Amino acid sequence: MEKINIAIDGPASSGKSTVAKILAKDYGFIYTDTGAMYRSVTYLAIKHGVAFSDAKSLVNLIHQYPITFKQTEEGQLVFIDGEDVSQAIRQPDVTNNVSEVSAHELVRKELVKQQQIIAENGGVVMDGRDIGTAVLPNAQVKIFLVASVLERAQRRYKENQTKGIQTDFETLKAEIEKRDYIDSHREVSPLKQAKDAVLIDTTGKSIEDVVATIKTVVKDKG
Ligand code: C5P
Repeated sequence: MEKINIAIDGPASSGKSTVAKILAKDYGFIYTDTGAMYRSVTYLAIKHGVAFSDAKSLVNLIHQYPITFKQTEEGQLVFIDGEDVSQAIRQPDVTNNVSEVSAHELVRKELVKQQQIIAENGGVVMDGRDIGTAVLPNAQVKIFLVASVLERAQRRYKENQTKGIQTDFETLKAEIEKRDYIDSHREVSPLKQAKDAVLIDTTGKSIEDVVATIKTVVKDKG
């Protein structure tokens, strides 16, 4: 398999990371979860008492505490300065504030630089909100995944239950809608389908179906 880059964007809980991980495994590519990077900065801000509005101090945190990924049998782990934060960055205090942190141009510049370095030699499946439009505009394959908000909230609710995170369904749905709204209305690199991205609606579709559809796109375009 040629070492192409695959960009997968879409709103919260549209299935991006699930399918991206499977594709990366099947193709022997590196999976990069860019949402985890914005989440890590948010986690650091909470830990060090930095205001979510203070872009300069947030960038200082990025410089001070390197974010790294480790691929394991159980999946991808996220480390900040050697600390495993894979669980902590999925907690509601991070989830509900990450969109404010990710809206800063300075923060995005830093993280986009890191994401582009990861992908410079190809062979990467990267998921996020602006991969096809800003991070990897030359990616050979671009996918934009969507699903109804009801289904996305149901998926996240089940996921939280298995992880032991307590959430009220209606609150969760409202939080997803709010996050999508902020992510798609920010000035810098808003969540948007790239012109050359293939749109896939995953509502009612199985993971296997979605993966198979993307593999057809890869075959045609890769
Ligand atoms: O993908 P995930 O839901 O973990 O992303 C968390 C948040 O990180 C998003 O809601 C968005 O605010 C931000 N994000 C972003 N650009 C990306 C990936 C994530 O702004 N490429």
